[in-house]
Amino acid sequence: MRLIRARIDSAALRSNLRVIRACAPGRRVMAVVKANAYGHGLTGTALALADADAFAVARLEEAMALREAGLRRRIVLLEGVFDAAQLQEAARLDLDLVVHQDLQLALLETQPSERRYRLWLKVDTGMNRLGFRPEQFRAAWQRLTRLSAPPLELRVLTHLAGADEEDGSFTREQLARLEPLVQGLNVEVSIANSAAILSQPTTHAHWVRPGLALYGISPFPQRRGREFGLKPAMTLESTVIAVRELPAGERVGYGGTWRASRPTRLAIIAAGYGDGLLRSLSNGAPMLIGARRVPLVGRVSMDMIAADVTELPGVSVGDRVELWGAGLAVEEVAAAGGTIAYELLCAVSQRVPIELI
Ligand SMILES: Cc1ncc(COP(=O)(O)O)c(C=O)c1O
Repeated sequence: MRLIRARIDSAALRSNLRVIRACAPGRRVMAVVKANAYGHGLTGTALALADADAFAVARLEEAMALREAGLRRRIVLLEGVFDAAQLQEAARLDLDLVVHQDLQLALLETQPSERRYRLWLKVDTGMNRLGFRPEQFRAAWQRLTRLSAPPLELRVLTHLAGADEEDGSFTREQLARLEPLVQGLNVEVSIANSAAILSQPTTHAHWVRPGLALYGISPFPQRRGREFGLKPAMTLESTVIAVRELPAGERVGYGGTWRASRPTRLAIIAAGYGDGLLRSLSNGAPMLIGARRVPLVGRVSMDMIAADVTELPGVSVGDRVELWGAGLAVEEVAAAGGTIAYELLCAVSQRVPIELI
């Protein structure tokens, strides 16, 4: 009997890429596949999306895995490198590097080889995480253009902090901070994440950087991917491993946080926080058995959850349970757990086998 698995629909991934291209016609697409492709499986996802113009990862190890899997496309290392050994490795892997702080400028200036890189200069226009502040931009740009081995390509990127906010005012503010810096430079620019791609064409610039939308999910908490023509790529499904009848008054799970108010039929399902299911889904997250929604009752434990299936007399061991996916929007499950779809997807653990279909 197969227990938990994540089925990844590669046709959905490709369809989502087409939707994104239609939203941002003529722009190049950097597919964001960091964090194990948001839980979808790094190499399988990237190979399924081989039509993207580039891929973006956060860690050198992710880039290494992509090259080992045979991906020849441009790979952008979003956080860049932090020492000379990493710089050398990035060169060996032929990576594009983001440069967001002085330490990285100094590494490029002092590297012993005359190797030339494809570089993305990151400007901090309001996220206040990584990047040169607008007043530091000109000096950083000049240092890069004056390297003894000048960049093969030099581009600019910034990251939006509130593209999913309805009024868009902070995004406009970020654009206003960026525009004077790049005006007259004749440089390619990248700004938009999924929310901006779907809602704010003024951010599209030369390169868009979708993550969540590629996986078919809405970055806006109140909306669903399908409203934008996106298809969820991951269906997380598991199996009923026991069915039990409880008398009224019995408690369920650790801490007894749920108590049966009536004679209750309970399905025990092979899925827990060991698989990445967040504990905040306890007591209330929906799931699907057949076509019916049932609630998670009690706490999520390491390997198991329980569902109240009193209304489903036919449930038996071996039945398939959808935790989220094609039939149940992960956005909705996330809302039930007080979190965002990003966190649920990225949390899917290595224990969960990925089936790419
Ligand atoms: C620099 C950068 N660009 C793009 C993305 C993609 O964001 P989203 O998944 O919201 O499209 C991320 C993700 O966090 C990111 O860090």
